Amino acid sequence: MEINAGTYYLRQLRADRHIDDRPPLMEAFADPTHRKYVLNYRLRTLDEATEYVALRAAQWAGDERCSWAIAEPTSGRLLGEVGLRELDLAAQYAEATIWVHPTERGKGIATTALNAALRFGFGGLGLTEVSYRYEESNTASAIVAERCGFTLVGPEPTPAPTGERLIRWHRTS
Ligand SMILES: CC(C)(COP(=O)(O)OP(=O)(O)OC[C@H]1O[C@@H](n2cnc3c(N)ncnc32)[C@H](O)[C@@H]1OP(=O)(O)O)[C@@H](O)C(=O)NCCC(=O)NCCS
Repeated sequence: MEINAGTYYLRQLRADRHIDDRPPLMEAFADPTHRKYVLNYRLRTLDEATEYVALRAAQWAGDERCSWAIAEPTSGRLLGEVGLRELDLAAQYAEATIWVHPTERGKGIATTALNAALRFGFGGLGLTEVSYRYEESNTASAIVAERCGFTLVGPEPTPAPTGERLIRWHRTS
């Protein structure tokens, strides 16, 4: 499912002869800030990146998670990734996730892409609630949550694996 996101477009992650997202994925996942806040994956080799692209496709197919590459419109170059995870179509709920390639941050890409994914979640999937969580020190993430219309819920009872407080925001349809 492709989505227009203003200056950008959202598409499935790809590793084929026309577009290969694996090199920019590996660059992003090697970045210290990315590694600090995105804990669940290691993409150090082309094989690990291949598995990551395949995992995201399988999660789409299983209605577990919608994930989009945020793409530059003329070249299709990967600028980041946005998603709706913990997808529960029956409960009409998901949790939003976002990261932006280190060389592309601070240009409003996260705000634009997350807003487009939320429009799809509420309008296309019929979700009624989307949450967004981040470690307390993640100032950029807090700014994005506020700009995307989320409301602060507060700290989660259980800290993140890093030991930091996890802050929850949510948005309803
Ligand atoms: C969080 C993240 C997705 C934001 O992406 P982005 O495209 O740079 O976001 P935007 O440009 O839409 O907005 C970010 C805002 O935060 C500001 N900002 C960034 N880092 C900041 C910091 N350390 N302190 C204060 N403000 C900061 C930016 O200047 C920008 O505000 P501005 O438009 O007024 O200049 C990106 O920083 C990222 O990928 N971080 C690593 C992964 C991550 O943390 N993901 C979120 C997990 S919950």
